[in-house]
Amino acid sequence: MNRKLIAGNWKMNGLRADLPTIREVATAAGASLGGPDVLLCVPATLLSEAAREAAGSALSVGGQTCHPAEKGAFTGDISARMLRELGANYVIVGHSERRTGHGETDEIVASQARAAVNAGLTPILCIGETLAERTAGETLKVIEGQLAGSLSGLDSAASLVLAYEPLWAIGTGKVATAGQIAEVHAFIRKFLVSRYGDAGTGVRILYGGSLNPGNAAEILPIPNVDGGLIGGASLKAGDFLAIYTTARALTV
Ligand code: 13P
Repeated sequence: MNRKLIAGNWKMNGLRADLPTIREVATAAGASLGGPDVLLCVPATLLSEAAREAAGSALSVGGQTCHPAEKGAFTGDISARMLRELGANYVIVGHSERRTGHGETDEIVASQARAAVNAGLTPILCIGETLAERTAGETLKVIEGQLAGSLSGLDSAASLVLAYEPLWAIGTGKVATAGQIAEVHAFIRKFLVSRYGDAGTGVRILYGGSLNPGNAAEILPIPNVDGGLIGGASLKAGDFLAIYTTARALTV
């Protein structure tokens, strides 16, 4: 069994006034000996202060996207090395809000993931189907295509996290059923093992999409669910920590 990872994605939320939330999570996580890993992916503007709040605790901080290039004429973009310098250990790549809103294709996502690994970051690579694709019975085909495309050129599974986030479950309050999650996570695991051999079993696969304190106890124990990627419920320390506590009870 992999150590669980409870990861928050703050998206475009959070100002300095919200730093006490990070402090509260860091304090509660403490040293987290043997417990789940805990992570907050905050806006880049907050990264260095968030890293300072998290210092000495089990809490890690991460970014939400990075540019494929190391540096250059890419106005407004941020490189993986810049995130690393600010204290990030992880970066989300290929979130559906980036794929849809910024035209990030599997090919671009793969190059972002490679840039992350080269900069010493662990990419959290997101995949997931739309409601139309699920209704058409194409979920596993879509997932397979995204995996094949987004993992292109990523030859080691040593530093890699996957996140299954069905688009219709993100920010909607609709959660995938335990059966739907189990099916897709098992499929992803099979893909990872065929791609990376034994190392594929050690890649953590997170579930994301309306995960909250009320459903965490049902979702986190599902086979091949190695944690969660949490949007809305990560903005309040109490909610995020309730999910963390549920994961901790499963881990310790
Ligand atoms: P919600 O938890 O708000 O549904 O968001 C999920 C998500 O997109 C995490 O990356």
